[in-house]
Amino acid sequence: MKKALLWVFGIAIAIQFIRPDFKNPKVDETVALNADTKVMSVLKTSCYDCHSNETKYPWYHNVAPVSWMMSSNINDGRKALDFSNWANIDAKVKLERLKRAKQLVNNELMPKSEYLLMHKDADLDKEKKETLEQFFDLQIKKLYKS
Ligand code: HEC
Repeated sequence: MKKALLWVFGIAIAIQFIRPDFKNPKVDETVALNADTKVMSVLKTSCYDCHSNETKYPWYHNVAPVSWMMSSNINDGRKALDFSNWANIDAKVKLERLKRAKQLVNNELMPKSEYLLMHKDADLDKEKKETLEQFFDLQIKKLYKS
C-alpha cells in the first residue's frame, strides 16, 4: 500500500516536468475582431480563452495533466477560430465557422463543458445566447453581401 502511494506521488511529480508552452501571440488590433461592447463582453468571457490570443491563464494552468488538456484546447481552438485574427480569415472559412458557431452555441456544445466546470461566468444564459446569435447572423449576412 505504502509503495503504491509512493508510485502515485512519484508519477504526479514526474509529469510536472512535461510542460506545454503557453504563449499569447501579440494581438494586432488592425485584424482583431472589434464588435460592439455587449458582443465583445460575451465573447471575451465565454470564448476568448480558447479562440483568441488574449487567453487568461488560471493558476492551475501549469499543473499537469490539466495543463496538457488546456494547451490542446487552446491550440486547437485558435486553429479552428481565432477572433484575434478575424480580418485575415478567408471569407468562405469564416462563413462556415459562423454557421457552425450558431449551432454549437444553440446546442450548448460551446463553450466546452469541461471549461464551464471551472468558469461558471462563461455559461451562456438565454440573453447571452441571443446576443451571440444576432452577432453571428449579422456577420453571415455581411459575408453573403460581399
Ligand atoms: C475550453 C476551450 C474552448 C472554449 C471556451 C470555446 N471553444 Fe470553441 N472550440 C474549442 C476547440 C478545442 C475547438 C476545436 C474543435 C473541437 O475540439 O471541437 C473549437 C471549435 C470551435 C468552432 C469550430 C467548429 C468546427 O466545426 O469547425 C467554433 C465555431 C467554436 N469553437 C465556437 C466557439 C464559441 C462561439 C465559443 C464561445 C461561446 C467557444 N467556441 C468557446 C475550444 C473552446
